[in-house]
Amino acid sequence: MDNRIKTYNRIAAIAVFIALPMLICSLGDFPRRTILKETISLLFIFSFFMMLMQFYLSRANRNILQGHKIGKVIKWHKVLGYVFVNVLLIHPFLIVVSRYFEAGITPKDAFIELLSNFSQHGLWLGLTAWILMFIIGLTSLFRNKLPFSYKTWRLIHGYLSIAFILTAALHVVEMGRHINRPMYWLIAILSISGVALLLKTYIFKSVSPKIHDHV
Ligand code: HEM
Ligand code: HEM
Repeated sequence: MDNRIKTYNRIAAIAVFIALPMLICSLGDFPRRTILKETISLLFIFSFFMMLMQFYLSRANRNILQGHKIGKVIKWHKVLGYVFVNVLLIHPFLIVVSRYFEAGITPKDAFIELLSNFSQHGLWLGLTAWILMFIIGLTSLFRNKLPFSYKTWRLIHGYLSIAFILTAALHVVEMGRHINRPMYWLIAILSISGVALLLKTYIFKSVSPKIHDHV
């Protein structure tokens, strides 16, 4: 494939999944908080967009990925997957920590405050997404120890990812402090098209042999 097209694909990925969300966060009219809280928020928003990108770094996006070395793409998928799943696993705990740091309250009070807010269904969505993400991480790490063929594992991985990204996206738009109209639409469009791309490969099984290879 023309190297130029590959470069354009990389630039487009950086623009859509990194530059655009960060631009919306910096230009949006959000109540500014301390640097610590803002940095922590940005880290989680960035990590969430890396999760969204996972759909586009898989065979679900095979039309655009054609010509890229699939082994390399999957390597990126795995590295980003492991790194950002771990970052997001500590997100609920960091929220508690950042609250008590800022407000001068004890970690116990911050935790109780979080629990007392669990009537908000945004938090239940977060908890569901957290559990799904944990399962995705474990079933990826121990893929070879599971009693499934590679194809079955990938299908389970795909369906878990759909459930995860939908609950996570709803949690983020409901709870996030950096959600304005452009951010809402960016998240909605990227999640819905990622899921649609994957479901399309499940419904029309004409998978390109290059990308179908066992990785
Ligand atoms: C935790 C580390 C992860 C590892 C090691 C991993 C590994 C893999 C591998 C080996 C594939 C098959 C590659 C292919 O044929 O395209 C795959 C596919 C996929 N992964 Fe992951 N992944 C991880 C995390 C994630 C996460 C967090 C998501 C969702 C946000 C995700 C979403 C997907 C999707 C949608 C596919 C396509 C499934 C299919 O082709 O049927 N992955 N992953
Ligand atoms: C037990 C699980 C979870 C809890 C208790 C939780 C809690 C929260 C809370 C309280 C907020 C509001 C932040 C604030 O007030 O500053 C928030 C925002 C957020 N959460 Fe979660 N969450 C959980 C799981 C997740 C998961 C699994 C993800 C991603 C996959 C995630 C991604 C985010 C993001 C990106 C924001 C927006 C940050 C912002 O706009 O400032 N959360 N979460």
